[in-house]
Amino acid sequence: MKDLKKITEIEDLRRIAERKVPRMFYDYVDSGSWTETTYRNNETDFDRIKLRQRVLVDMDNRSLATQMLGESVKMPVAIAPTGFTGMMWADGEIKAAQAAEKFGVPFSLSTMSICSIEDVAENTNAPFWFQLYVMRDKDFMTNLIRRAKAANCSALILTADLQVLGQRHKDIKNGLSAPPKPTLANMLNLVTKPEWCMNMLGTKRHTFGNIVGHAKNVEDLSSLSAWTAEQFDPRLSWDDVARIKDEWGGKLIIKGIMEPEDAILAARSGADALVVSNHGGRQLDGALSSISALSDIVQAVHAENSDIEVWLDSGIRSGQDVLKAISLGAKGTMIGRAFLYGLGAYGEDGVRRALELIYKECDISMAFCGHTDINTVTDNILVKGTYENLKTTYL
Ligand code: GLV
Repeated sequence: MKDLKKITEIEDLRRIAERKVPRMFYDYVDSGSWTETTYRNNETDFDRIKLRQRVLVDMDNRSLATQMLGESVKMPVAIAPTGFTGMMWADGEIKAAQAAEKFGVPFSLSTMSICSIEDVAENTNAPFWFQLYVMRDKDFMTNLIRRAKAANCSALILTADLQVLGQRHKDIKNGLSAPPKPTLANMLNLVTKPEWCMNMLGTKRHTFGNIVGHAKNVEDLSSLSAWTAEQFDPRLSWDDVARIKDEWGGKLIIKGIMEPEDAILAARSGADALVVSNHGGRQLDGALSSISALSDIVQAVHAENSDIEVWLDSGIRSGQDVLKAISLGAKGTMIGRAFLYGLGAYGEDGVRRALELIYKECDISMAFCGHTDINTVTDNILVKGTYENLKTTYL
């Protein structure tokens, strides 16, 4: 019996998802590339930043409400675009989008989703954001952009850090595919996941809905690594960004910025937001944690006098992490694993619970730091010496 009140942290959801979701899909989410050092540092670097407790400040009437890209959000958190989401739970993208809409935060749909752009649009009212991978097949890409426009998507997210795929050992060993191949090992694993299997029998959405039947010569697309190796365009450059921005004609978010030089190029490209992100530690292992890259990027963008919004993802597992990112100058954040664990545990209810937990933790921590409005939070809430040198103080 599920009692969501007893789910008090994202880690609870992770543990339940680990039990309920087939091994290959759980592993896909809970892994980084190569040694997973960057994946781990994304979380541990947040822990190194300490908060200043203030007391006897009126903490009534608190609000986390703000704006991301001019859209009102209940808290500065958006659902990040993640691949295979409909394999964590049947129709997972629709469920997560519905939870986000009811909660009041934006939802982003990945190119590599199981539910298609049209599926999500038909089952939601709020506009969502679409994340574009740039493919060699330009007609297919143009068509994806057209489909996102037709679905009323309110922003396009261009992922800049996946021209090639970082090697994730578990995915190779597990033979990750959607749907899973009927091997003995997969069958033995699936019989231990009855709820997942029952739910999957209730939907026809078992493979990549944006791609199969839409891209040329792709009728049976099962392997992400084969697809990326064959289809993702390794020549993507800043010139393409300008072309894509023109073709799209709306708000553009560039995700995957880790260095001030690239942040400046992103600002000059005319993008509306950039996401400081190392792709959840799934691409360049050995890269900095995203939170340690944030301050220099905020400063560079400021020096450029640009009004591009700086957001952050990678490593956020709690509302305190959100608060710390905001205090260091991010205007918003994105969560991937934190919502996927909720989805894998309890579907839409689990995503809602993940959002509630993050909200509550951010709200209460902000209050302890003496603020009642997220828009007034600065690095003044942080203990000096615990956040300025995150880049250089690896022990
Ligand atoms: C895709 O974006 C992935 O990280 O697997």
